[in-house]
Amino acid sequence: LDNGLALTPPMGFNDWNAFGCDVSEQLIEQTADYFVSSGLKDAGYTYVNIDDCWMTHTRDADGRLVPDPVKFPDGIKGTADYVHSKGLKLGIYEDAGTATCAGYPGSLGHETTDAQTFADWGIDYLKYDNCNNNSDGTREDYVRRYTAMRDALAATGRPIVYSLCEWGVNEPWEWAGDVGNSWRTTGDINDSWNSMLSIAKANMPLASAAGPGRWNDPDMLEVGNGGMTDTEYRTHFSLWSMMNSPLLIGTDLRKATPETLAILGNKDVIALDQDKLGAQATVLSSDGDAYVLTKKLANGERAVALFNAGDQARRIATTARAAGLPKRGSYSVRDLWSHTDYESAGGLSATVPAHGTVLLRVGTNPAAVLKAPLFDTGVTGPD
Ligand code: DGJ
Repeated sequence: LDNGLALTPPMGFNDWNAFGCDVSEQLIEQTADYFVSSGLKDAGYTYVNIDDCWMTHTRDADGRLVPDPVKFPDGIKGTADYVHSKGLKLGIYEDAGTATCAGYPGSLGHETTDAQTFADWGIDYLKYDNCNNNSDGTREDYVRRYTAMRDALAATGRPIVYSLCEWGVNEPWEWAGDVGNSWRTTGDINDSWNSMLSIAKANMPLASAAGPGRWNDPDMLEVGNGGMTDTEYRTHFSLWSMMNSPLLIGTDLRKATPETLAILGNKDVIALDQDKLGAQATVLSSDGDAYVLTKKLANGERAVALFNAGDQARRIATTARAAGLPKRGSYSVRDLWSHTDYESAGGLSATVPAHGTVLLRVGTNPAAVLKAPLFDTGVTGPD
């Protein structure tokens, strides 16, 4: 959506994966505090997002949504003021139907009022769900319901990132680029290897739909929730960053382990997600469970993921040339999980553990370029 927002994928937190309906002002404010104190804010995490179950079951006399006074004693406005005072942004949740998935009032038919309420409260991001939608299931109906809220948000004049949560129904990658800043490409993720893997595979072929302001959304992160190993969580975070996914932390940060924070806070990996070019990775090759994904970066370098979806360690290999770099005698390689730098004559390979990903940032080696012959004779390169 060309609203000047989400020029790189939104980064932040959403309570749903770890807390379900158990959202509160205290949780949101403590998470905002933690973003600041842990350095996650400095790493780029900005949006602290409230999911379902934040409101009461009835609208007020003027038809406006009412925050649950027990969960949000200072209201959403008070929560927004707090989050803004930390230099962060606040997101909220609603639904393009008569009720949210948890049964609270939906926005269908109330788009103008609700968008204005969100703007008045100081909301910066809206996740817009798809339960109880009274839909005939057609693409036209989906476009109509999601466009109605897009236009209502625009009419408020407040910059609000618009995140479509239509669960991948009706191929949103074909129509949502002008409707939302992101769109879900699949059903809900859960904290398991199989869920994460199947979503990653579904999202991988959709690269052509993504770009600044418009992102495929393979759902929120499960990193830290305990259902996967740290190797698997590194793969989850690697793939989401390669695929320019919104990076919405979905764990209880107040209890996060150092390993969890090292994954979520890896600036080398985040830099792939946040690269200005906004080019989602594509699958360069796959051989059974071994995948090579490559992603073009704004400075001309390439990110390369050697991803082993299988249950046995295996060697995965490609070359700098295959990844799209020009022919050179030497390439610079940085391993983004071990944070080591080395030089390669062109080969890029690793023995990758089961369910693991080796993530590389590869560039032409400027030192070697200086020594290269004026004309490319073909004898300096390995390929
Ligand atoms: C379905 C969405 O896909 C989830 O991410 C979450 O927002 C729940 N609804 C909340 O009810």
